[in-house]
Amino acid sequence: MSRYWSRIVHELTPYVPGEQPRIDNLVKLNTNENPYGPSPRAVEAMKAALGDELRLYPDPDATELRKTIAGYYRLEPEQVFVGNGSDEVLAHTFQALLKHDRPLLFPDITYSFYPVYCGLYEIEYQQIPLGEDFSINVDDYPLENGGIIFPNPNAPTGKLLAIAEIRRLLESNTDSVVVVDEAYIDFGGRSAVGLIGDYPNLLVTQTVSKSRSLAGIRVGYAMGHPELIEALVRVKDSFNSYPLDRVALAGAKAAFEDVDYFRETCDRVIASRELLASELESLDFRVIPSAANFIFAAPLRMSAARLAEVLRERGIIVRYFNKPGIDEFLRITTGTEAQNQALLQELRELLL
Ligand SMILES: Cc1ncc(COP(=O)(O)O)c(C=O)c1O
Repeated sequence: MSRYWSRIVHELTPYVPGEQPRIDNLVKLNTNENPYGPSPRAVEAMKAALGDELRLYPDPDATELRKTIAGYYRLEPEQVFVGNGSDEVLAHTFQALLKHDRPLLFPDITYSFYPVYCGLYEIEYQQIPLGEDFSINVDDYPLENGGIIFPNPNAPTGKLLAIAEIRRLLESNTDSVVVVDEAYIDFGGRSAVGLIGDYPNLLVTQTVSKSRSLAGIRVGYAMGHPELIEALVRVKDSFNSYPLDRVALAGAKAAFEDVDYFRETCDRVIASRELLASELESLDFRVIPSAANFIFAAPLRMSAARLAEVLRERGIIVRYFNKPGIDEFLRITTGTEAQNQALLQELRELLL
């Protein structure tokens, strides 16, 4: 605390990211990174970007990358916005499209950055309880709102909402923006991008951090009606004209172009997630069916908090949220087959 701080800084409760410890041989299953490296073509493109041209500012409009993403999703470049990680894209979205007189709505169990942005931008919000089985019920979302946001699949539950339900929500909610945060969509869900032509109030956000294994370069994007995109550009150009550097622009573009590598690694993650889920069930975990690259599971033989602690002592870190409603669960990122086996080996020793 300091008397030099502005009022808003005194009142902030910042987001706490999953830890990135520097410990050798750690099995790191706590921040939903991809266990496989990025596309070799993306790495080559980034290396090629390391030269004399770095003395020049990057393209403020990220034209080439936006064209590439638009081409991938059969959209126009005017329907695509890019930013420094989807966290930044989301931050701009909260300020540009979700700050109104009526409260913003999001699930009570969801990405914990949402209330943080509300604090930063002084947005009133209301949290809508998930169902008993952690599902989002679109009928629970009242019409009086200044916007709706949820991840699909949801985080940290991994639970998917069907496209038909998203369409139903959009049909009944035409007066405010509905944001679908698809950080994990490539691991088993169908994107809502296909609905953009039908609903001018739909914004879909995605990231290269997870399915394209490029968390280290911080590239996220939003897709929607050009008027929604224009709002984001206006905020961006009032904040930082060059959120993506030359290396990140080159790497993200090449990653989008390497479709085979993307599909192959996503398939591998999905296959190991399914295997891990069934092994956890056989160790008496309550496993929530996941469409993401992580599993949300409650151990029935030991408290989740204790288990996270003991695993940590054994060099394996998973995410534990000390929050009512989910404090009996662990969120476990799907690792390589070898990492998953290492986890299961420890769990067998601890729980059987
Ligand atoms: C639901 C959700 N949305 C957005 C993000 C942010 O991703 P990034 O800023 O790496 O693009 C995350 C990161 O974990 C997430 O879980």
